[in-house]
Amino acid sequence: MSMRVRKKPPFCRFQHVNTDKLYVCRQAFTPCSPPLSKAELAATMRDLMNTKTSAQILNGKALATRMRGALTKEVAELTEKHGRAPGLAVILVGDDPASQVYVRNKTSGCEKMGVVSFSHYLPADTTQQHLLGLISELNADPKVDGILVQLPVPEHINPDSLIEAIDPGKDVDGFHPYNVGRLAARKPALRSCTPFGCMKLLEETGIDLHGKECVVVGASNIVGRPMALELLLAGATVTVAHKFTQDLQSHVERADIVVAAAGKQGLIKGAWIKPGATVIDVGIHRLEDGSLTGDVEFAAAAERAAWITPVPGGVGPMTITMLLANTVEAFKAHLGDK
Ligand code: GUN
Repeated sequence: MSMRVRKKPPFCRFQHVNTDKLYVCRQAFTPCSPPLSKAELAATMRDLMNTKTSAQILNGKALATRMRGALTKEVAELTEKHGRAPGLAVILVGDDPASQVYVRNKTSGCEKMGVVSFSHYLPADTTQQHLLGLISELNADPKVDGILVQLPVPEHINPDSLIEAIDPGKDVDGFHPYNVGRLAARKPALRSCTPFGCMKLLEETGIDLHGKECVVVGASNIVGRPMALELLLAGATVTVAHKFTQDLQSHVERADIVVAAAGKQGLIKGAWIKPGATVIDVGIHRLEDGSLTGDVEFAAAAERAAWITPVPGGVGPMTITMLLANTVEAFKAHLGDK
């Protein structure tokens, strides 16, 4: 009886290919065992051609452009139908340069979309009483659908009392306790812009958030807390880490979704990211060379994550887009055009 002698197994450059997560082992020239047949090899090579060795970029700029295009069309139709454009009033107190840039971006975003902006640039020594009077006028102004007070405000101003003075139907920042409460009660009305933008980015991944381990790093009223409520509403299992959290690393390491909103450059180490996780970086910090970076070590995190937002071009453009979307929603509600 003749025996077929099998050739020595070929050497394979890839120790293994896990097609579930599509990790590629970088250890070269490790023998395959058992050897792959021609068909298996061809299939494996096909898989590898589609394999990503680093994360896909969640492009907030592209999504924002798409959304703003649709909103611009909607604003034109609504303006034609109702004989007036949506109006957004922006209040800026003082001369903080970063706030000036944000406000300029918000008002120019409005104008490009056909939303009318009413800017109120006030000196740093403006009184609380004056601001409350202005908010009261804007609440009563039928041309104004949205009101926002750019934060932070100077030390002598109580921001909470200003936010609470805004008509909740015009609170396009979604900061009023009524709107935060609506989100907490699973009946969202006007939603905080940055978390709402993060949810739109997560939608782009197609990931079903039900039961996913989500870790939000940062517990601010503007981002961390409403972000946790958004994720909870989407059925995720949510942990909020904050300045008193012990062992942040252990929380981040088990997260399927990480939302970094601590405001600390590079706080989240790339090596902490669970392979295949999604990373949303809300942080934005200017480095000495003028470049921008986030709360996450981007390059190292991108080696492990399946999806990651860049800084800039991730969450930032979405925040203003959601403000414009909220302004259009408030406009429709005021006109009974739901
Ligand atoms: N300051 C930083 N972010 C925001 C924001 O989303 N809205 C307002 N009003 N102020 C901010």
